[in-house]
Amino acid sequence: MNNKFARIAIIFLGLFLTASFSLAAEQTQAGQYSSSQFDRPGICAGCHGIIYSQWDGAMHSVSEIDPFYMKEAQEASNDTDGFTDLFCARCHTPIGVMAGEVPPIDGSKLSEISKNGVQCDFCHTVSGSAGIGNAAFISTPGNIKWGPFSDSESPSHETAFSELHTKAEFCGMCHDVIHPVNGLQVEATYTEWKEGPYSKEGEQCQGCHMTPGITQFEANPGKAAAMGPKRDHIFTHNTVGGNAFITELLGSKTHANMAIERLKSAATLDIDFTADKNETVTMNVSITNSGAGHRLPTGLTEIREMWLEVIATDNAGKKIYQSGVIDNDGNIDNGAVIYKTVLADANGSPTTKFWLAEDVISDNRIFPRETVVEKHTFVIPEDAIYPVSVSTKLRYRSAPQDIIDHLFGEGVYEVPIIDMVEKSNLISTSNIISSAANQEPKQNIPGFGFFGVVVAFIFAYGKRRVN
Ligand code: HEC
Ligand code: HEC
Ligand code: HEC
Ligand code: HEC
Ligand code: HEC
Repeated sequence: MNNKFARIAIIFLGLFLTASFSLAAEQTQAGQYSSSQFDRPGICAGCHGIIYSQWDGAMHSVSEIDPFYMKEAQEASNDTDGFTDLFCARCHTPIGVMAGEVPPIDGSKLSEISKNGVQCDFCHTVSGSAGIGNAAFISTPGNIKWGPFSDSESPSHETAFSELHTKAEFCGMCHDVIHPVNGLQVEATYTEWKEGPYSKEGEQCQGCHMTPGITQFEANPGKAAAMGPKRDHIFTHNTVGGNAFITELLGSKTHANMAIERLKSAATLDIDFTADKNETVTMNVSITNSGAGHRLPTGLTEIREMWLEVIATDNAGKKIYQSGVIDNDGNIDNGAVIYKTVLADANGSPTTKFWLAEDVISDNRIFPRETVVEKHTFVIPEDAIYPVSVSTKLRYRSAPQDIIDHLFGEGVYEVPIIDMVEKSNLISTSNIISSAANQEPKQNIPGFGFFGVVVAFIFAYGKRRVN
């Protein structure tokens, strides 16, 4: 902490430089408007009832009141003597920043409308963009609502076609976060998409996150407004990601369930067993990012956790092997590989506070359509009772339990763990014997070697619709 002053000075300089050139001058500035220039979502709900009900309870609707965000934003503010306030709030309460209601970061000066976070009349009065990342939006509040239609007519407001709204670049304004001082890219969902296969195929964020299709575009015919014409496709506004924790905590079981469905469609597992004569089993578990248009996981990846749990048990219930199991305090055992980003602070030590990050120590997240292979090896003891069952699960949670305990107190919130994919395999004696007999007739091997014959029971999840 002795370099705190130096750090603050650097942050101050950084924010000054950021404000002066790195985000173009055309970007809407803090304090440029008042919150009364924006309409509250309830007004839009009068005619856009279905869209309103999809947005209400989604992460965008709680981006400011999200208790996890509020605690972290307060910590960042404390660590930097308030210099991060405008930076964080610009994406989490854009109207609050434009209306000059931040700082303070605790939300005590926010108007009611600003507490609605990323809302209708914010997104639909964005008239342009000054680039990617760090909330580079250009906002023009007023009667014109920009959207995807070129032939739209409304009795209550003017309409205008905006190509930006139909492209990933709209989302990219906020879904890339660059450290305001040292330029380190701390969140890179847009960049991951841009550099991956989906951008080349023309699949936008909207194609997966604003249609009923979870992993690709799927049409949703209907009306955009009660009195509007019937159209071939209306974009849905649930914009669901992987967050089943905060959505449920703040009262939307619907959005939480949708997040679970999305996580269950994101990856596939493929398991291959081999064994030597000493009953040493080698499992190669292939994990494929089959459904996400960016790396898996993405977003706040120094916090999000995805990992494999492998448990082998003999027929008497005796544990033979385990990895990735949660202990009584909610921590994942040290041996497990966790797919996430590890950031380094100024001393090179790992930190989960991205505002203090200066470098990336490691990042093993899975690229879109990439397959990674994890190897697990264990020995089946001689006294084991066959068949041996092996359960393999790919699991996800929005935050480590100890971070949530640290912020809110021990036992206040339990972070849900979602099983994205699971597979169950049986290693059975009869298979081993028959296969051993084929290979090495007449040889009596004590404890019999086996050749990786397994019976696989795959719990395939029916893909349900998320919309
Ligand atoms: C009195 C009814 C009414 C209210 C209130 C209303 N709208 Fe509309 N809006 C419509 C109708 C009707 C359409 C045309 C639908 C169509 O073309 O399919 C429309 C179209 C739109 C479009 C599409 C524009 C385009 O060109 O793509 C957007 C965006 C929009 N409204 C946003 C809003 C927002 C944001 C609010 C609240 C601030 C709002 N509306 C309030 C009736 C209303
Ligand atoms: C995160 C920004 C965002 C928020 C918040 C948001 N919208 Fe949209 N909305 C969009 C985008 C982007 C599209 C167009 C998607 C496309 O064409 O690819 C859209 C499309 C629309 C349309 C055209 C019909 C359709 O759905 O295709 C209407 C009407 C609309 N939104 C109204 C609303 C209303 C009302 C709210 C609040 C309840 C709202 N939007 C909240 C970004 C947003
Ligand atoms: C004004 C900035 C802004 C824009 C523009 C924006 N988002 Fe977001 N988005 C956020 C913030 C902030 C959150 C996180 C809210 C929270 O954590 O409480 C979020 C959350 C999300 C989530 C939920 C993530 C999870 O973990 O479940 C998804 C999915 C998402 N946005 C998709 C989109 C898409 C698709 C677009 C473009 C159509 C878009 N966003 C445009 C700021 C924005
Ligand atoms: C091919 C479909 C697809 C495309 C395209 C896509 N996503 Fe996703 N997205 C997913 C799936 C599946 C998940 C759930 C797995 C995960 O968390 O990564 C997800 C998760 C997310 C999350 C939550 C991540 C977390 O774990 O906290 C955010 C935020 C998000 N997407 C934003 C975006 C943005 C922004 C774009 C465009 C730049 C985009 N997505 C493009 C399918 C897609
Ligand atoms: C450029 C826009 C942007 C800025 C600036 C930004 N965020 Fe976010 N924040 C997001 C988006 C987008 C998400 C959702 C990503 C995801 O779901 O993984 C998010 C998610 C979060 C979450 C996770 C919430 C949850 O419920 O899981 C926390 C906590 C958070 N941000 C804190 C902060 C803090 C603290 C700052 C300032 C130091 C900050 N953010 C600055 C865009 C931003």
